[in-house]
Amino acid sequence: MQEEVKKGNIGVFDSGIGGVTVLKEIIKVLPNENYIYYSDSKNNPYGDKTDEEIINRCKEIVKFLIQNNCKAIVIACNTASSIAANILREKYKNIPIIAIEPAYKMVHDYSFDKETIVMATKGTIESEKFNLLYHKYDNHKTILLECVGLADLIEEGNEDKIKKYLEKNIGMYKGKVENVVLGCTHYPLIQKEIGQVLGGNVKFFNGANRLAVHLNDVLEENNLIGRIKEKGKIEFIDSSIEEKIRNKKEIRFYNFLEGEKI
Ligand code: DGL
Repeated sequence: MQEEVKKGNIGVFDSGIGGVTVLKEIIKVLPNENYIYYSDSKNNPYGDKTDEEIINRCKEIVKFLIQNNCKAIVIACNTASSIAANILREKYKNIPIIAIEPAYKMVHDYSFDKETIVMATKGTIESEKFNLLYHKYDNHKTILLECVGLADLIEEGNEDKIKKYLEKNIGMYKGKVENVVLGCTHYPLIQKEIGQVLGGNVKFFNGANRLAVHLNDVLEENNLIGRIKEKGKIEFIDSSIEEKIRNKKEIRFYNFLEGEKI
């Protein structure tokens, strides 16, 4: 019997291009799906927006993705997940909504007794959702660092500014931490630079791979797995009104998926 072909895309969104670090892990697990990636450049950063602003943006994006034939949604932004995931799940009960979160439980599972730094946006660190996670797995050796403005610099792609920012804001932890939780999906794009500033053999924790495995399980359970024979397609959409910005982001997005530094 021929296997059923599940038509429909997987919608992935972030405030910008950071969520591509999540998408890359998803594609490794689910190569035979079609994807729509929505980058909300017009409204980034989310990290210092009010909850209401983030919730409204997320509702609009999810509505758009569903209208564009998405069968599942991935919130590839820790800030949006922390603030809007439950509200979106309540509103869109018929569609699986999978949300990234800072990989602090992974520290608990694999490196509990080590000095840890959680790097994330102000919105994530201050959210109720993250605080529940943090208090549940607190190893009492953890620094919570609100990296205000860092996602912006990564969007801009200016290496000098990124290096200066890191020296100023995490340079003082050099040699003092062993675990780094990349609690914003933009930060894996500068993992090497963070490692250079913190020195030594810091271990990085990133929840993207676990999310990908979980997404696969959820699609299986709901009988939504695609059966596309060839490799799936990826459509990139950016909300910026400026064509130059949209084009630049699109190039960086596909370059990263192809394995190039962006
Ligand atoms: N990539 C987003 C995250 O994971 C946030 C970036 C922003 O502040 O817009 O939190």
